[in-house]
Amino acid sequence: MDEIKVAILGFGTVGEGVYKTIRSHERELTAVLGKKVVVAAVLIKNKEKKRNISEKILITTDFNEILALPNLDIIMEAIVEKEPSFTFLKKAIKKGCHIVTANKEMFAHHGKELMKLAKEYNVKIGFEATVAGGIPIIQTLQQLFKINRVHEIQGILNGTSNFILTEMREKKQSFATALNLAQEKGYAELDPTNDVEGNDAFFKLMILSRIAFGEEPDWNDVDLEGITSITSELVENAERLGLRYKHIASIVRKGNKLVGSVKLITVGKLHPFYQVEGVENAINIQSDIVGSITLQGPGAGMFPTASAMIEDLVFVNEKQNLQKVGYEKTNDPITAVI
Ligand code: HSE
Repeated sequence: MDEIKVAILGFGTVGEGVYKTIRSHERELTAVLGKKVVVAAVLIKNKEKKRNISEKILITTDFNEILALPNLDIIMEAIVEKEPSFTFLKKAIKKGCHIVTANKEMFAHHGKELMKLAKEYNVKIGFEATVAGGIPIIQTLQQLFKINRVHEIQGILNGTSNFILTEMREKKQSFATALNLAQEKGYAELDPTNDVEGNDAFFKLMILSRIAFGEEPDWNDVDLEGITSITSELVENAERLGLRYKHIASIVRKGNKLVGSVKLITVGKLHPFYQVEGVENAINIQSDIVGSITLQGPGAGMFPTASAMIEDLVFVNEKQNLQKVGYEKTNDPITAVI
């Protein structure tokens, strides 16, 4: 049987989740793709660390060894930070590989350039896992909101922050204890600064903005706040008033301008995010034809993120519906076209 040869870059929580899911869902993948998905290589950082990877697979710290593999079809990237990922992915695209990435920081900064390059080399990029973990928001917007004119998106986009806020309220935990737990559970980044300072939600918001509106606001104009100012006292006072703290990223079209913000705010019982708890994320889309839609689901963790990547593995293999204009939808109120 024909094979689809895959390399996984990074073997942290997400990379390992992808590896395990390719094995656990081999039957479904083969049925859908008509080919067997084979993990040919894994790029790791530390050779000393013990990992549960089959001996038949190339395990290396050198990306060039992976690039040199014959007939490599797909790179599944689960590294953090912009570099070296951006450089690796450019090289892979030029070699003709499809890309599936979970790297939001890199994609917020370089997504546009990668999409252009992918178009040039006739390959596809799946980036569902860059936003809101397991929630299929990217494909929902790209495939099912082609005609609707989106005018506002609001989201709880960082699982770690929402988990901390929930733990502090429900279990009266301190910020530090809740953060430790989020790290233990594999929700937080290795360095959780971007999670708690709001940068992670900001990167995801910019990726969403590009799909929904075809553009982004000037990054410097986006009000950016994390959750580090939260205290147990604030959480308790809000609860007494029937309110909950939520970390909400939003982007709204006002005339010809996009206005974005990432803020810690209190919401009441009637807000669509009041009941969004723990590691859950949620995204509310307001658009002209359908009205208001909210998608909710696990926003971080091994298998939710692996789920988004494994579905993208299928997406990038689909022959039809090649990404025509990348994610440059023009969605201004008058001339909305794709
Ligand atoms: N650290 C991220 C979060 C992982 O907590 O949302 C998913 O992007």
